[in-house]
Amino acid sequence: MEFSTLERLEETALELVSPGRGILAADESHGTIGKRFKAVGIESTEETRRDYREMLFTTEGISEVLSGSILFDETIRQDASDGRPLVEVLKEAGVIPGIKVDGGAVAMPLSPDEKVTQGLDRLRERLQEYSDLGARFTKWRAVITIGPDIPTSACVEANAQSLARFAAHSQEAGLVPIVEPEVLIDGEHTIEECYETTLWTLNRTFHHLYEHNVELSGMLLKPNMVISGKDAEEQAPVEEVAAMTVECLLRGVPAAVPGIVFLSGGQSDKQATAHLNAMNRMYEGLPWELSFSYARALQERPMETWAGKSENVEAAQRAFRHRLKMNAAARSGGYSE
Ligand code: 13P
Repeated sequence: MEFSTLERLEETALELVSPGRGILAADESHGTIGKRFKAVGIESTEETRRDYREMLFTTEGISEVLSGSILFDETIRQDASDGRPLVEVLKEAGVIPGIKVDGGAVAMPLSPDEKVTQGLDRLRERLQEYSDLGARFTKWRAVITIGPDIPTSACVEANAQSLARFAAHSQEAGLVPIVEPEVLIDGEHTIEECYETTLWTLNRTFHHLYEHNVELSGMLLKPNMVISGKDAEEQAPVEEVAAMTVECLLRGVPAAVPGIVFLSGGQSDKQATAHLNAMNRMYEGLPWELSFSYARALQERPMETWAGKSENVEAAQRAFRHRLKMNAAARSGGYSE
């Protein structure tokens, strides 16, 4: 890779994890946003999706707390109601636009309880187009499920290798890859089982990233936190989640990676903030920045408050700004609700 390309990647990666700010994941596919809208009584149309995301992106004061936002293919091509492309709205607000480039996780052939992520076909061409449309970073999500006899090694390897191929393509196109191996919270597993599976997944992912010549200083990692399964009888307390997560990352993530931006993965919004806060409060001098790239934990309240009605825009933006500020405070361990 040319030195100037790497320098640009490193600069963008560092800007995305700059202190006191974080990333909004607003890259829900049509299926996912449809489900979330339906739960709060909003019809999902091209226009409502646009209005909703415009509402988020035009929230006053976001540049202080938001470094970047991940978009879906539809959004990166959409214009705001005043005719400006939504990408420009973000840029003018000082927020770096990014794009989800995976094609979703589907049942793994012959192992239907596990998932593999699609989307490597024509990735080179698609990345070029996204770069032309203004994206500076990309995201690819792989999903690992904990259950009886799973994950299998085949599933972990397939997902880790796809993540590495995606990351290599992305860097080749001059875009910072956000590598997202998500061990799902779903299930009755213990926090120890989550730790084991997360460490395994991280190790295999960084093995393949190395084999694919991905520059670790020009990427970000978006992992799950190490946490008890949602249906586990015993739920680990905040400090234990923070400690197990950081200890796992210390053993699985090379120090050259500039930042780790967590997903919220089905935690409540306050839980996701409290866990990030505890990690940053309890540990000093970690090799990477610990930040956030939440979808649900940032959007739940504003989406509910907005409910598809223009008269609710201001209240929804207030709710959005509040969650952002709480997570921005958690970047330095200074959060209290
Ligand atoms: P959640 O924060 O809702 O887990 O979403 C993050 C994300 O981008 C999933 O790909």
